[in-house]
Amino acid sequence: MIDVKDLRVIRQGNEILHELSFRAGAGELIGLLGPSGSGKSTLMRSLLGVQMLSGGTLQILERPAGSASLRGALGYVAQSSSVYLDLTVEENLRYFAGILHEPRSEVGRVLAVVSLTTLAGRVVSSLSGGERTRVSLATALLGSPPILVLDEPTVGLDPILRRDLWRTFDELAKSGTTVVVSSHVMDEAAHCARLLLLRDGRLLFDDSPAKLLAAAKSSSYDEAFERLIESQS
Ligand SMILES: Nc1ncnc2c1ncn2[C@@H]1O[C@H](COP(=O)(O)OP(=O)(O)O)[C@@H](O)[C@H]1O
Ligand SMILES: [Mg+2]
Repeated sequence: MIDVKDLRVIRQGNEILHELSFRAGAGELIGLLGPSGSGKSTLMRSLLGVQMLSGGTLQILERPAGSASLRGALGYVAQSSSVYLDLTVEENLRYFAGILHEPRSEVGRVLAVVSLTTLAGRVVSSLSGGERTRVSLATALLGSPPILVLDEPTVGLDPILRRDLWRTFDELAKSGTTVVVSSHVMDEAAHCARLLLLRDGRLLFDDSPAKLLAAAKSSSYDEAFERLIESQS
């Protein structure tokens, strides 16, 4: 589904991503974790095909990222809200469904997936942070793209809402969608089947959360990440 080889990105003379390589298959739930500025959003923009690459290759479904034929293959939730505050939940979804030429029936389906059916008539500005995130997620689910790229969707949410969102991601992955979720909160590692740890644009680790804790002989993800950095410097 995703094949990244020696990916390099340089922005304004600074090397932001240093020869990253990884592959991901269908139904994987991947946590892209790393501190602020480590390059998570840049990698996600690269997957979407909107980032200029300075080296390497990036294939999505065996086509170069950004290819016209990949329209509809990726659902994306940006770090900043991408829905209209003055429209209702349903109006937002109908609007985006129209742009994507998806049938009206898709609106009801995606609202059910993110448990927003009962809030369909509410204006988005009246919703809580977690509910707004769900609206953004619903827009990304229109048309059932095989790959979802979600940039820090759980930031600023309380623990219960975070857990519920991770459950939704898990269900989507179990249904065959490849889900890439970024976060700068190391504890979120616990929810992922596979972790990609980024630091200063380099991939430090690519394996399961259990392997990370075992390798660091630690029970805390924060501590394990620090030990990993120490061991590699
Ligand atoms: N438009 C830009 N031009 C140049 N450098 C940028 C730009 N946006 C981000 N960067 C730099 O790229 C690095 C990675 O940023 P980003 O991918 O947003 O990281 P993250 O999402 O992990 O916080 C940072 O050092 C940041 O300063
Ligand atoms: Mg970011």
